Amino acid sequence: MPSDPKRPENVPAANNQPLPDSAAGNPEDTSGPHGLLDHRLSRRSFLSQVGAAGVVATAPPLLAAAVPEPTVTAATDGHSGSVPTAPLTLNVNGQDHHLQLDPRTTLLDCLRENLNLPGTKKGCDHGQCGACTVHVNGRRVNSCLSLAMMHVGERITTIEGLGTPDKLHPMQAAFVEFDAYQCGYCTSGQIMSAVAAIKETCGPSDEDVQHAMYGNICRCGAYPNIVAAVQHARKHVES
Ligand code: FES
Ligand code: FES
Repeated sequence: MPSDPKRPENVPAANNQPLPDSAAGNPEDTSGPHGLLDHRLSRRSFLSQVGAAGVVATAPPLLAAAVPEPTVTAATDGHSGSVPTAPLTLNVNGQDHHLQLDPRTTLLDCLRENLNLPGTKKGCDHGQCGACTVHVNGRRVNSCLSLAMMHVGERITTIEGLGTPDKLHPMQAAFVEFDAYQCGYCTSGQIMSAVAAIKETCGPSDEDVQHAMYGNICRCGAYPNIVAAVQHARKHVES
């Protein structure tokens, strides 16, 4: 028996009857509710509707309504001529600072570049080393991962606000006493982290301190001295 040339290979026709043209996908068959032309039309109209929805969703007037226009001021980035900025007030080390910043400025860059507080260090700039640790309302924050705009109305403390050269914070004094640094690049972040950590649920053992401080990397490997300093200081801070 000759095979049906319109039937795909390995697909038997029911009851050995030839497949109807529309079911076999005859491109010239445009009749019937499921013909090829019907399929093309419905697919095309579907894509047209999706495309129209996309255009509506990304229409500039709607975006402009959702995002307020920041003020455009004179150039401060040294590259593009002018950058959009917005006004904000930050409370840092007990003092209010009125600023006009690019909204994308991180808290770390704001502290170092705009407020001239270089004690907070930029290590990785990716939230991986802890060198940029500051306190926001008494809790540890990696300032490289946080935008300055997010901290309006909050209390920010940096290493410069923790103690003074004449009156060191007990944690600063312990780091000096226990020689808990070598190059010193990580030290301000270690101290800020330690001060907050011992106010959190940090257990009494050295391992507990290590665990509480795991986000602060010391490339010089001063970890044993850092833990000893934290254990010593917490007796004064907690008593
Ligand atoms: Fe922020 Fe490394 S500079 S975590
Ligand atoms: Fe050098 Fe910690 S003292 S990285």
